[in-house]
Amino acid sequence: MAYNLLQGKKGIIFGALNDKSIAWKVAQRAHEEGAQFVLTNAPLAMRMGEINKLAEECNAQVIPADATSVEDLQNLFTQSQEILGGKLDFVLHSIGMSPNVRKGKTYGDLNYEWFQKTLDVSALSFHKVMQVAEKQDAMNEWGSILALSYIAAQRSFPDYSDMAQAKAMLESIARSYGQRFGKLKKVRVNTISQSPTKTTAGTGVGGFDAFFEYADKMSPLGNASAEDCANYCITLFSDLTRLVTMQNLLHDGGFSSVGISEEIVNQMNK
Ligand SMILES: NC(=O)c1ccc[n+]([C@@H]2O[C@H](COP(=O)([O-])OP(=O)(O)OC[C@H]3O[C@@H](n4cnc5c(N)ncnc54)[C@H](O)[C@@H]3O)[C@@H](O)[C@H]2O)c1
Repeated sequence: MAYNLLQGKKGIIFGALNDKSIAWKVAQRAHEEGAQFVLTNAPLAMRMGEINKLAEECNAQVIPADATSVEDLQNLFTQSQEILGGKLDFVLHSIGMSPNVRKGKTYGDLNYEWFQKTLDVSALSFHKVMQVAEKQDAMNEWGSILALSYIAAQRSFPDYSDMAQAKAMLESIARSYGQRFGKLKKVRVNTISQSPTKTTAGTGVGGFDAFFEYADKMSPLGNASAEDCANYCITLFSDLTRLVTMQNLLHDGGFSSVGISEEIVNQMNK
C-alpha cells in the first residue's frame, strides 16, 4: 500500500545489484511513494545490467560510481541534481563488501590490504558520500541520509570477520556526521541495523544459513525481510521522522533484546 510519503522528494539510492538487494526493494517502495531518484552502483556491478530493469520500472536514471572514489561521487551528485532539477531530500547508502570474507580468510589470517579495502568500501565511503554532499550543498533542509548496518558492530559473529569493524565505523560515522549535518542543514543521519537477509552480500558470509535460522528462532517477530527493511527506510526518508538522528536503529524482529527463546531451548533439548 502506498501513502504518498515521499511525494516531491528527490534522492540517490546506492547498492541495487539485483532483485534480492535491499536497495532494490527501497527503490521500488520509494517509487510507489512518489519519490524521484537516481540509481547508482559500482561500474563493475553494472556489467550484469540488471539495474536497468529497475531503472525502467522506477523511471529513474542510472549513474555509475565507485563509492570509494571522491571523483565519481562528485560527478554523481552534480549530475543527479541536474537530472532531478534540484537538491536532494534523501540518500541511501546500501553498500558492503569484504575481500577477506569473499576469499574465506579466517580472522587470524587477514590480509591487511583487503582489510583496508573492506573499511573503505563499507564504511569510509559513507563519509565520502556525505562530505561530497556537504561541499556541493546538495541536501535540502530536513533531508535524510541512511546507511545499513548489522549487529556484528556490537557483538561478535566469527564469520562476519572484518565487516564487524566496518559496521562499527559506519555507525560511528553516522553519529559524527549526524551532529555536523544536523547543525549545518537540519539533515538527519542514521543507520538501520537489519536482520540477516538473503541477498548476494548476506549469503556470501560463511555459515549464513545457520545464523539466519538462529536469528529467526531468537526473534519473537522473526527476521525482518528486505521488504520490511525497505518500509522502514521509507519512514526514515519521510517527514514523519524529522527529529530522529545520529541513531543506530535496530530492525531485527526483537533479536537484539532476547537472551534465549523457547525455540532455541527446545532445539538444545533435542
Ligand atoms: N544481507 C544481510 O544479511 C544484511 C544484514 C544487515 C545489513 N546488511 C547491509 O545491507 C547493505 C546492502 O547489502 P545487501 O544485503 O542488499 O546485498 P547486495 O549484495 O545486494 O548489496 C551490496 C551492494 O554493495 C555494492 N558495492 C560493493 N562495492 C561497491 C563500491 N565500491 N561502490 C559502490 N557500490 C558497491 C554492490 O555492488 C551491491 O550492490 C550492506 O551495507 C550490507 O552490509 C545486509
